[in-house]
Amino acid sequence: MQLLIPAVLCLLGSCCLRGTEGRQYESVLTVPNGGPWGSWGHKQFCPSGYAKGFELKVQPFQGFWLFGDDTALNGVRLLCTDGTVIESSVGGWGNWTKAQLCSSNKLVSFSLRVERWQYLRDNTAVNNVRFACSNGTSLEGWGLSGGHFGPWSSNCTSGAICGLQTKVEEPQGKWDDTALNDMRAFCCE
Ligand SMILES: *[C@@H]1O[C@H](CO)[C@@H](O)[C@H](O)[C@H]1NC(C)=O
Ligand SMILES: *[C@@H]1O[C@H](CO)[C@@H](O)[C@H](O)[C@H]1NC(C)=O
Ligand SMILES: *[C@@H]1O[C@H](CO)[C@@H](O)[C@H](O)[C@H]1NC(C)=O
Repeated sequence: MQLLIPAVLCLLGSCCLRGTEGRQYESVLTVPNGGPWGSWGHKQFCPSGYAKGFELKVQPFQGFWLFGDDTALNGVRLLCTDGTVIESSVGGWGNWTKAQLCSSNKLVSFSLRVERWQYLRDNTAVNNVRFACSNGTSLEGWGLSGGHFGPWSSNCTSGAICGLQTKVEEPQGKWDDTALNDMRAFCCE
């Protein structure tokens, strides 16, 4: 009977055996300037090791409001030292940029470039991301240039970033789309 309980939990979808959706983490890195729209996707983790680099999903500039509805950043992927590539929620627009890697093999903090709310104009929310490597260098993604970079998250105190969670707005039909609005990263020992 006791052996059946984990199997039943798996059927109910609350099983932790899918590896990358559950891992012991030490702290959560956040930034204060995320956008207000959307809902959080699942937490995703490197099965082992750390994130050594990233890729961004970017929709190019669509032209001025009434002609185009821009969403800018649509997704963030982490490239793990064990070769796994992980992503949380991702928007449907844009294309993945080339990988950007830390030679020190560890990402330890991040910052988001966010456009603040545009009254009656096209909103894009997050436009770009930068990550800091454990060797002190920062890598700026190949995103767009709307808005401003906000403050850095705290640094992982030991270890490095090993997972992420992104907040993405669902498509709004004929209304204004923004796609990716906020991100959290997880540090593992
Ligand atoms: C970008 O992605 C779209 C689909 O989302 C695809 O049709 C298009 O060919 C891609 N463009 C490039 C340059 O890869
Ligand atoms: C730190 O990592 C970056 C990105 O990989 C690299 O360009 C830079 O040369 C490294 N700096 C040192 C001091 O190793
Ligand atoms: C994170 O570490 C870098 C150096 O590696 C330091 O310059 C920065 O101030 C630290 N950030 C925080 C929020 O402590």
